Amino acid sequence: MNRLVVVSNRVPAPSAGSQAGGLAVALDGLMEKHGGLWFGWSGAVMPDGATGRAAMVERGGAVDYATIDLTQEEHDRYYNAFSNGVLWPLLHTMPELMQYDRRDARVYREVNARMAAALQPLLRAGDLIWVHDYHLMPLAAALRARGVRNPIGFFLHIPFCAPDVLAAAPEMTELVREMLAADLIGFQTDNDAANFAASAQMLAGAVRGPGNSLFFGGRRVRLGVFPVEIEARGFARTALEMTASPAVRRLRSSLDGQRLILGVERLDPTKGLLQRLAGLRRLLEKRQDWCGHVTMLQIAAMSRKGVDSYRALRAALDREAGALNADLGEPYWQPLRLVAHAVDRAVVAGTMRLARVGLVTPLRDGMNLVAKEFVAAQDPADPGVLVLSRFAGAARQLEAALLVNPHDPDAMADALDTGLRMGLEERQARWRALWAAIQHRSPLVWGRSFVAALLRAAAVHTVEPVLAVPPALELPRATPRRPMERVGAEIEAATLAAMVKPGRVLN
Ligand code: G6P
Repeated sequence: MNRLVVVSNRVPAPSAGSQAGGLAVALDGLMEKHGGLWFGWSGAVMPDGATGRAAMVERGGAVDYATIDLTQEEHDRYYNAFSNGVLWPLLHTMPELMQYDRRDARVYREVNARMAAALQPLLRAGDLIWVHDYHLMPLAAALRARGVRNPIGFFLHIPFCAPDVLAAAPEMTELVREMLAADLIGFQTDNDAANFAASAQMLAGAVRGPGNSLFFGGRRVRLGVFPVEIEARGFARTALEMTASPAVRRLRSSLDGQRLILGVERLDPTKGLLQRLAGLRRLLEKRQDWCGHVTMLQIAAMSRKGVDSYRALRAALDREAGALNADLGEPYWQPLRLVAHAVDRAVVAGTMRLARVGLVTPLRDGMNLVAKEFVAAQDPADPGVLVLSRFAGAARQLEAALLVNPHDPDAMADALDTGLRMGLEERQARWRALWAAIQHRSPLVWGRSFVAALLRAAAVHTVEPVLAVPPALELPRATPRRPMERVGAEIEAATLAAMVKPGRVLN
């Protein structure tokens, strides 16, 4: 029986009091159903010298949560400075926001090594290790260096940029090599997988293998595309129930018949918040008949306060929101309501159902689950319209949305105008197509697909998998690993981009 060991920076441990955002939403169901070990940061920051070496373990339902604390310096350098000040902007193709310092890179690596050391004693033979996200790019290599031979999968929740952008941070070549210590590396889209494959070849010296695999250091590493999903039916139920909640009723009555444009996200430079306000401003300047008849509610929950670019964005957003309301508002009407703190997820679901337009326009996004949630929240009889950035991973699945380039204020204004005016029939037709794209998928199936692919990648066919494999992803019959020479002879010239198809598990 294989136990699943999930490793992520944030861990939704009962005592942590912190949430791991979309990552936890994606993994919670799988872990609750199948049990396992979830390892990562406790969310606590301790004075230097006050952190223990061993992980603290607590049980919650079927899951053992094992966490370590970070010191103040580790939090500043590993989490704020390197993960969120270098890797996050770089991988989102925003290198101009990167603030690189090699001391931060050193601490990032040390924290990964410390995590590997704390995790190793908790591992059992047969465990499947699933590492998540950009905070932990060297972890597979750190575990291998300690002699861990278990199958390791790595999944990146955010985009992977092109090799020439990646090269802007000196560590990236080494980090790509360290990622290649995993047996399977998963991405949200084919574009991300292709960028990684190109980087691995151009920067790290990997060689393309058969199927979607790479050879590196005498090993074969599989790449796969696994778009993260939401529990669409459950979210739809919550949205419906919440329309009767006091919070949603008060919002509805405060709108007094105006149409609602809604944006919901963490306050983050990748989300295109200033560009979104520019789009709203352009709409109200070009189509003045909307003045007094439309309100935009932007929920932009402040996050990562320790990173300069986030604090700067907060200040810029406050300024621009104030200017927008001052320039275009009237004594009886303000175009924009800005909320910079988190709002309860159920209330957000009900609010989405009220909105005529969902405005989800990141400059770049790995997937964007808010776009999928907006679709799920709609009333099928009178659905709202999704305006979606073509640079969000979700745009590859949600093609029936109004797709826009968030850098172009006129395109944003036109899409808003189209969405606000769209007749019932077209809204219903678009919504049906969007719903069809998400209704039969779920985080559970997503998680099982990855685990099934990891089993295949590591050729762990001698142990019976504890996780049921969805029908489309049947494990192949046990086959011994082929000798390297034969596999190497199969290297083919087709481009990886052409071979990697979204929604499919690759081997
Ligand atoms: C994104 C990342 C996650 C992260 C979340 C919240 O979704 O992919 O790994 O946990 O943002 O960010 P935070 O910095 O608060 O953990």
